[in-house]
Amino acid sequence: MIGPGTPGGRYMRAYWQPVARCADVAPGQAIPIRILGEKFTLYRGEGGNVHLVDFACAHRGTQLSTGFVEDDCIRCLYHGWRYDASGQCVEQPGEDPGFAGKVRIRTYPVDEYLGLVFAYLGEEDPAPPMRRFPDLEGPGVLETDPAEIWPCNFLNRLDNDMAHVSWTHRESLKRVGQRVEHNTYAQTYEETAFGIADPNGIGNPHVMPNINILRVPLRGNDRWKGLFLQRLIFLVPIDDDNSIAFDVTFAPGLTGDEAEAFRQWRRPRLNDGDMDQTLDIAREILAGKRSIRDVPPTLAREKQFMIEDYVTQVGQGRLIDRAPEHLGRNDALLILFRKVWRREVRALAEKQPLTAWTTTGLWEYQDLRPRYVDSAFNSKVEIS
Ligand code: FES
Ligand SMILES: [Fe+2]
Repeated sequence: MIGPGTPGGRYMRAYWQPVARCADVAPGQAIPIRILGEKFTLYRGEGGNVHLVDFACAHRGTQLSTGFVEDDCIRCLYHGWRYDASGQCVEQPGEDPGFAGKVRIRTYPVDEYLGLVFAYLGEEDPAPPMRRFPDLEGPGVLETDPAEIWPCNFLNRLDNDMAHVSWTHRESLKRVGQRVEHNTYAQTYEETAFGIADPNGIGNPHVMPNINILRVPLRGNDRWKGLFLQRLIFLVPIDDDNSIAFDVTFAPGLTGDEAEAFRQWRRPRLNDGDMDQTLDIAREILAGKRSIRDVPPTLAREKQFMIEDYVTQVGQGRLIDRAPEHLGRNDALLILFRKVWRREVRALAEKQPLTAWTTTGLWEYQDLRPRYVDSAFNSKVEIS
């Protein structure tokens, strides 16, 4: 549970969380946001600064995102009350002078980073500094993909493990002549300075509290053969039943023409525009109207993977009771992950200090040996 005041909600609010992509809110635009079970208004002033404020006008509760952005202020659509960037009401057409000074709406600290708008919704005042990810700040291409909203709790998506790859993605891997060795991942996980990782470098690490990280070989283009992409996937609750993934990909070292060529190549592989169409296929599979084998083979590999992940993760249910689970060896990651999470949530409830997770060296734990077996060339790669 992540609503305001709940133990999990308080813990998630202890960290700055991404709430939107920078590209989703243009200068002069206001949009409604739902995050961690609460509604907000996100707007960008005409000069370019972003602001996160209450969802509703303090007068009669009208949705502020429907109003007008003026400079760094927002004016309500209903009776024109105007609030400045600090949340202070500064104008109330037709009202007594002096009334406006007594009215304000809440505002929240925001910052733009990695192509995302981050907000601090926690209890500390002033807010703690926002965490940065220095590994993604060097030369290279940084892309922030369209966010994916799925109808399931964010933990369905965070608790994603390596053992699923050979089954969940079997069909899409087969289509490109690859298969993955089953049950050969000797996954052992340990707590690290940033969260959880597999010291053997096979399993994918986690940055506490809600970031999956991946180092994936770039596939499908010989020009950048051998390049490994670094991805951060922030899994943020919209509420207990819905979650949003903010996916940041970094291609280290690509600059100038190389960078532009990479962006052009990658663009059609993303989900902009036809996300709903892609996920309709997943929904048809869940409804029994289509099989996982009937995903159009012409779809970009990334989209095929997404459909397969959606089916397994959303298909579990929105907010599910975990008690009936039967966890085994392959669940080592989530067993440790849940243990660490529980410990931190308890520490917060008992007013003990939280672990100060670092954000560097995230990819050092990942083995770069290929995990896929390329049957077309019969080059079997054993992973033990
Ligand atoms: S409800 Fe916003 S000004 Fe009246
Ligand atoms: Fe997957």
